[in-house]
Amino acid sequence: MEEKIRQIKAEIESGIGQYETGEALYEFRKKFLDNKEGKIPALMKGMKDVPPEKRPEMGKVVNEVKGWAMAQFEAAEARVKALELQKKNESERVDVTMPAKGQSVGGLHPNTIVAGELIDIFAGMGFEILEGREIENDYYNFTALNTPKDHPARDMQDTFYLSEDFLLRTQTSTGQIHAMESGKPPIKMLSPGKVFRSDDDATHSPMFHQMEGLVVDKGITLCDLKGMLDTFSEKIFGEGVHTRLRPSYFPFTEPSVEVDVSCFACGGKGCKLCKGTGWIEVLGAGIVNRHVLENCGIDSEEYSGFAFGMGVERIAMLKYGINNIKALYESDTRFAEQFKK
Ligand code: DAH
Repeated sequence: MEEKIRQIKAEIESGIGQYETGEALYEFRKKFLDNKEGKIPALMKGMKDVPPEKRPEMGKVVNEVKGWAMAQFEAAEARVKALELQKKNESERVDVTMPAKGQSVGGLHPNTIVAGELIDIFAGMGFEILEGREIENDYYNFTALNTPKDHPARDMQDTFYLSEDFLLRTQTSTGQIHAMESGKPPIKMLSPGKVFRSDDDATHSPMFHQMEGLVVDKGITLCDLKGMLDTFSEKIFGEGVHTRLRPSYFPFTEPSVEVDVSCFACGGKGCKLCKGTGWIEVLGAGIVNRHVLENCGIDSEEYSGFAFGMGVERIAMLKYGINNIKALYESDTRFAEQFKK
């Protein structure tokens, strides 16, 4: 028995320092302390073969060995745990000198940027923002705007019809009618939104964005329109930019004008952008046709108004020098990146 105990102690002492993982150490510990197969519990079971007079003394020795072995293993376990933690920390160490992974942040689309600027400018001049609806009936898109069926001006816009009566609005001018139907003068409103036309080339897209403006009050004249447009042009295109009006035709305005701004690239001397003319056409406008006021129940003897409509894409293309409208819809991130602030 004493010899066995000596061997067990020697075995534990020589082996215990070699283990570096909890698992291997656990297996080693089982070999000595496991109740079924362990060498120390086996000693206890062997007590029955010890002569009875020696049993108390032997029992004490075996218990001491057990206590000693347990203390050895606990110390070894603490050492292995610390070792394992150290290895884990080393493998997870963060190198703070490594370059950071790039994070790309989104930006606003040029259409959104320009629409936002336009809305800010007009809101700053006291215009109320009224978003209309994209599906309209024939009345709001045409008839109420003094363009009855068979009117030749309907050919100015290639319309997507959804049914005999319903269509995708071709112009945000529909907003004028809704504004005059739902409110009494004085009216000062801006109607931004999507419009649709069966039109597709370098400067036209079947869906694009417009902004319609309307001012109705007593004594509104073309001078009010011109003054407002000059203020607007400076704000959107830069200081010193001014406007000129050219006669035109729209069924819902009389007189109607085409509005040019002095070229903001060359200051009016003539360049590639303004095709040598010094002027750039930006929008349509005019004095609201009295028929349109009357269609909305507004007395045209008492009130008058001006209206204007512009394409957001056109302004964006001019401001940023974009020559193909498709670039605005292709979702090419290399294009979009250029507008990031
Ligand atoms: N609705 C016209 C278009 O889409 C633009 C326009 C021209 C609006 C003259 C107006 C206006 O209010 O007076 O081409």
